[in-house]
Amino acid sequence: YTAADHLRPVAHFTARDTWLNDPNGLLFHDGTWHLFFQNNPFGSGWGNISWGHATSQDLVTWDHQPVAIAATPTEQVFSGSAVVDEANTSGFGAAGQTPLVAIYTSAYTGEHPRAGIQAQSLAYSLDAGTTWERYAHNPVLDIGSTEFRDPKVFRYGGEAGHWVMVVVEATDHRVAIYTSSDLIDWTFASHFGPWGATGGVWECPDLFELPVRGTDVRRWVMVVSLNPGGPAGGSGTQYFVGDFDGYEFVPDDDKATTDGPDWLDHGRDYYAAVSFSGVPGGRRVMLGWASNWDYAGDTPTAPWRSTMSLAREVDLVRWPDGRPRVAQRPVLPADPRPGLVVHDLVVPTTPGRHTEIELSTHDGDDVVRVTVDGDRRTITCDRTASGSVDFHETFASVDTVHLPDEPQTHLQIVLDGCVLELYAADGRATVTQLVFPRASLTEIAVRQADPEPTVA
Ligand code: FRU
Repeated sequence: YTAADHLRPVAHFTARDTWLNDPNGLLFHDGTWHLFFQNNPFGSGWGNISWGHATSQDLVTWDHQPVAIAATPTEQVFSGSAVVDEANTSGFGAAGQTPLVAIYTSAYTGEHPRAGIQAQSLAYSLDAGTTWERYAHNPVLDIGSTEFRDPKVFRYGGEAGHWVMVVVEATDHRVAIYTSSDLIDWTFASHFGPWGATGGVWECPDLFELPVRGTDVRRWVMVVSLNPGGPAGGSGTQYFVGDFDGYEFVPDDDKATTDGPDWLDHGRDYYAAVSFSGVPGGRRVMLGWASNWDYAGDTPTAPWRSTMSLAREVDLVRWPDGRPRVAQRPVLPADPRPGLVVHDLVVPTTPGRHTEIELSTHDGDDVVRVTVDGDRRTITCDRTASGSVDFHETFASVDTVHLPDEPQTHLQIVLDGCVLELYAADGRATVTQLVFPRASLTEIAVRQADPEPTVA
């Protein structure tokens, strides 16, 4: 097929006419959401890796901004984070100025004396994120490793506290935790891992505190992306619930190593998910890259390639087995938006009940089948007949998520161009999948034994 406009989402972020991968530097500042992202400013394949930039007032309408931190012939600008340096601890601001500071991985290349090394560097903005300047004495953290990347920095303990960086030693399957008072000098504090799933490299860590819904309990959540070894094959995002004292993360138990970790998403296309910093009111909002390293370079759109997921508000909810797990609620546009389809269903999940939901093009040629199986208490998503599927051998997939032991599930289906997101059990089980139908999947048919599920 030729790549068509109906594949470009209207409420998910895509680059105008280039490549993107991981979200970077997610930041809320002065009423504006900032999304930086791994970007090739010159093409629709991975390369010349720079931080692209977009801004939004509502997380579903994005304005393209100029490239924030551009690759040079000797430095690719890999993933990282950004913070508001409220107290000007870095000294990058003049008196009365609040610097925004980006912490990214320098992947040195070409003629650089550090070629092959990955180290952590800084850039700062003194005009609320519009323009960025590299720190003159980069890198600020170099351990001489070729696999040391994706720093996520946050403030621990408020004004009296300190900066914390979580960063991966990718092939050792561990997260290193460093602390700093000024974002420039970093002191090693501890390691976390190997733990949970280690079938691939560890990438893009995040660490934050979340409330357990309906209680006064708060737990820390360590997020670690993994490629390959994800739950549906290829890349995926695992997480661990535990405790953090400002220096060391201790998981609640060793379930992750015996039964496997919890996953933020059970589809194939939710990777490198990290959270926004600077969000007021204790809200935690995450965003992921809606693709999979298995085939990210082959997806049939042009000239743009890849999309972000919707932003997702997260908290912890106890499952019937007592374990707190992440629940996710998508941020949707307040008004109806042509091209975006949201279905809300309540589906039985008791033994003997099977519900088939078919999302199809008007002529029925391309179809995605979502099956809720009450015996196995699962949802499967079959995209084998969803349109363009043979651009890569692993794409035509049937993927499964388990549901909590409850008699019915609320299922929200969000379809937007080439992205399909399923939020089941009120966001406690999600499946994110790319699809490339020849026309939009405008039709829905629901089939099952009595009683009928309610379609709103
Ligand atoms: C994750 C990742 C990161 C790296 C970036 C490079 O998808 O591999 O580890 O910083 O992409 O683009």
